Amino acid sequence: MTKANFKESEYTANMAVSSTLAVLMEAERLRAEGADLVDLGAGEPDFPTPSNIKEAGQRAIAENFTRYTSTSGSAPLKRAVIEMMKRDFAVEYQPYECIITVGGKQGIFNAMAALVNAGDEVLIAAPYWVTFPEITRFLRATPVFIDTEATQFVLTADLVRQAITPKTKLLILNSPNNPSGRIIPPAEFRKIIEVAAEHDVWVISDECYLYFAYSPAAPFTCGSLPAELRSRVMISGSFSKSHAMTGWRVGYALGEAAWIQAMLKVQSHSTSNTSSISQQAAREAATGEQQSLQMMLAEYKRRRDWLIPALNEIEGVECDLPEGAFYAFPNIKGVLNESCKTSAEFARHLLNQAHVVVTDGAAFGAPGYLRLSYANSLENIQKAVERMKQAIAEIHR
Ligand SMILES: Cc1ncc(COP(=O)(O)O)c(C=O)c1O
Repeated sequence: MTKANFKESEYTANMAVSSTLAVLMEAERLRAEGADLVDLGAGEPDFPTPSNIKEAGQRAIAENFTRYTSTSGSAPLKRAVIEMMKRDFAVEYQPYECIITVGGKQGIFNAMAALVNAGDEVLIAAPYWVTFPEITRFLRATPVFIDTEATQFVLTADLVRQAITPKTKLLILNSPNNPSGRIIPPAEFRKIIEVAAEHDVWVISDECYLYFAYSPAAPFTCGSLPAELRSRVMISGSFSKSHAMTGWRVGYALGEAAWIQAMLKVQSHSTSNTSSISQQAAREAATGEQQSLQMMLAEYKRRRDWLIPALNEIEGVECDLPEGAFYAFPNIKGVLNESCKTSAEFARHLLNQAHVVVTDGAAFGAPGYLRLSYANSLENIQKAVERMKQAIAEIHR
């Protein structure tokens, strides 16, 4: 007998593993060799999960809340999410319009799997979170990218209108945005949904950074749209970033009952419910004290307010103020030259020569930019900027 020769399915053959993987592996190798890396690559809070949330998880174990829950999530957690949205954004949802998911990522996957057919077009504003195009490809649909560089990475209704074709099925929005940190102003947001509605296009609003809007920028949730517009939007939310719970894997989706029901089918035959223990912790996150969230937000803002002016002081670097999330997305085209021609090469140079981990903007569909996560201590951020200056000086020597 000969050794079996694995050939992957057409579904996964269309997908790519993260294009940033090579840099991460190289960073891992350097770390193992003992290099003093400053990591601004991570897309997750550097804070521990607040203690009241951890204690709720511990209580769940002690009290044997360790069985399957309803596939769509425990009723108390669904109520807690709904209460949280009402308390913080004055929007109303019903339990049958809510599903608890394994992080926001599963909510987005399930919402897309329940809606998109092979051959459909899915509109995605670039720069984008890397998962959006890959799920689209997995479903054998076509990602159609809307370049937002000319509007400082803020998607507009006009840009959406120009990109719609008879094949457009879905528009994915992500504001506050990963990687740009930009926020679509509420009035424009509404216009975008109106354009989608005019053309019978469905919308997924990835609101996992909803809490990360730094005053005076205002957070906007599609939950606050009038019913006729809201009926075509699925909101994807998550406790990962807002409550520093990336490892607990709890997200939620809010939208029309029929769409939620179709998502439930996908979930019931893939993961079932997310961890019962995590659900109890998330319940505390939603309805318990919110002081730690405010403390974390204030700290991210303090770091942002130091980082952005510092980046703009570097010759050849330009960075708009991100109003939300925890990423700076500087344009570094002005520092590129013969020895470092692309943002990918510059990111590699930064890693190897300066031991600073950043993410190449090309990974998000915006070459010439870098993503710097400021979910790291101010001390490390300052160290990274100093090293970045030296690394730039080296390529211009
Ligand atoms: C834009 C965006 N959406 C969704 C997610 C999903 O996060 P999680 O699955 O941990 O909730 C992330 C995480 O990095 C993200 O950046």
